[in-house]
Amino acid sequence: PTPFRIGLLGYGTVGAAFAELLPQRAAQIAHVTGLKPEIGGVLTRSRGDFEQILADSDLIAELIGGIEPARDYVIRAMRAGKHVVTANKQLLAQHGEELWAIAREEGVQLRFEAAVAGVVPVIRVLQESLAAAHVERIHGIVNGTSNFILSEMARTGAPYADVLAEAQRLGYAEADPAEDVNGKDAAAKMAILARLAFDTPVHLDQVVYEGIERIGPDDLEYARDLGLGLKLIGTAERVNGGISVRVHPAFLYARHPLASIDGPFNAVTVESEAITEITMSGPGAGGPQTASAVLGDVVSAMIPPASTPETSARLEIVSDVVSSFYLH
Ligand code: HSE
Repeated sequence: PTPFRIGLLGYGTVGAAFAELLPQRAAQIAHVTGLKPEIGGVLTRSRGDFEQILADSDLIAELIGGIEPARDYVIRAMRAGKHVVTANKQLLAQHGEELWAIAREEGVQLRFEAAVAGVVPVIRVLQESLAAAHVERIHGIVNGTSNFILSEMARTGAPYADVLAEAQRLGYAEADPAEDVNGKDAAAKMAILARLAFDTPVHLDQVVYEGIERIGPDDLEYARDLGLGLKLIGTAERVNGGISVRVHPAFLYARHPLASIDGPFNAVTVESEAITEITMSGPGAGGPQTASAVLGDVVSAMIPPASTPETSARLEIVSDVVSSFYLH
């Protein structure tokens, strides 16, 4: 099959995981799309030339993070007529309007499923499945690091600093973990979700946020004594003809769909009169998981949307009803 070349910008936790995942999935993707995806070039701080990589690529995967030079590269890629896949929430929450306008002008795709809730497909669901639902409210646990810290502190009583160090070691935290714990990472993600849900430009500056830095063992003990969960919650909702977008710690009743989301996981609850409520949850941070979301966006950019895939495997269908009564 014809090669489809991906210019990879950034080789951190997600970039390296993407470079590892791609060759493992290339044959299957080639079967479905008729094109064989491969890395056309890699740009890091110390190697690679952006212009060369751009010329050699069909699509740019921006996994550098931060605003500049990521913004400049994304714009230049789209101006050159290339599709872009990005995991960069801060870029979209601060310059999304500019970038989406350029994508429309140039007729290229700008995909960003990996920017919010990692591999949990919240972007597609808001853009496609729920495009006609009049969304009233979104609640989300959208920072895996802070959720991991709170649940580990609650579970083991381990000190904050130790659990944060563990989150960094496991590859959940940002290069600068301050944004994970001060709420800025979650705020950027809520701005993006609100943008899609309410079809209204939302800038990071318009999101009020507070993180988990001041939560101590006492707060967690208080929550436990009352049978409540304590989580960093993002909210985006309609209020008085406008919208409110905010992030702060909140107590949750045990039966709330977000109360049982522990560890480095994310979950997003969408409410509307028509759909009542749906919750999506899963791994929200981590290299391999986020890389999987990036690759999903690459495949979406390679194929016309909503086509029925060709069969690539014929597995035996085994339906064992009895063993599935109890779910663990
Ligand atoms: N640092 C982020 C988190 C990674 O912990 O959720 C995913 O954006």
